[in-house]
Amino acid sequence: MSFSHIGFERGEDGIAVLTISRPEKLNALNREVLAELGEALAECAQSTEIRGIIITGAGEKAFVAGADIAELGGLSAVELQEFSSFGQAVFQRLDSMGKPSLAAINGYALGGGLELAMSCTLRIASENARMGLPEVKLGLIPGYGATQRLPRLVGPARALELLLTGETVEAAEAQRIGLVNHVVPQAELLAFSRSLLLKILANAPVAIRAVMRIAAKGGELDLDSESIAFSLAGVTRDAQEGISAFLEKRKPVFTGK
Ligand code: COA
Repeated sequence: MSFSHIGFERGEDGIAVLTISRPEKLNALNREVLAELGEALAECAQSTEIRGIIITGAGEKAFVAGADIAELGGLSAVELQEFSSFGQAVFQRLDSMGKPSLAAINGYALGGGLELAMSCTLRIASENARMGLPEVKLGLIPGYGATQRLPRLVGPARALELLLTGETVEAAEAQRIGLVNHVVPQAELLAFSRSLLLKILANAPVAIRAVMRIAAKGGELDLDSESIAFSLAGVTRDAQEGISAFLEKRKPVFTGK
């Protein structure tokens, strides 16, 4: 499948790198880009070769500078709701796919760009990255999940400050508040992201899926559910292999069963 605005690179290591490419508009997400991203993510979900995903932006200036503001003017409430639901559904694919994803934030991640990054499993930022939710500055509010995902990531007080001021934060501050996991020089961003993702992918696929599923629910979940998930993971062949390998002082060979 070929796309006009999404670079889709499949590595031999099972990692797909999706590059959002609309550099003349700082990779802003218009309808066409979002639709292509949705198709690319569907392809990643279906593929048995692709085990993990890195999402980044083309160029050195922006990851994604937001939803395309030009498409927002003059819409009715019904059309705005459809606009928001469409983007949410695309981003939700990252959450529900059961494969780890990293946002490699190579510059501005604003509005929908930060919401896309927050839908990934983890976030790595380059030193020049700037993040924020400037929607209130436009008289809007975020519509692609930030009101829900940001408080989960950084806590309600910090989330409200970012959401209400619309101010951007630099990479170092984003790391301090837990919005990004690591900050690295721009030239090292993709290599660092890939090596972190490979560390995750070296572990048992069923265990990875279970952790992502349970941890993402955060406060909603009770410990009974964790123990149910724990007991299901514990009866997989991979769990048996992992335990045996540890006891035999060798590397486990996981099969996803
Ligand atoms: N939607 C549509 N177009 C956008 C965009 C967006 N979210 N963000 C940037 N662009 C466009 C600009 O309009 C400009 O287009 P033009 O060259 O045809 O005029 C081009 O991308 C380059 O952006 P520019 O503003 O000239 O770059 P800058 O370096 O001066 O400023 C930003 C960079 C990111 C600070 C600024 O572009 C910005 O504030 N963007 C909007 C961010 C935002 O509010 N996002 C949330 C949207 S809900």
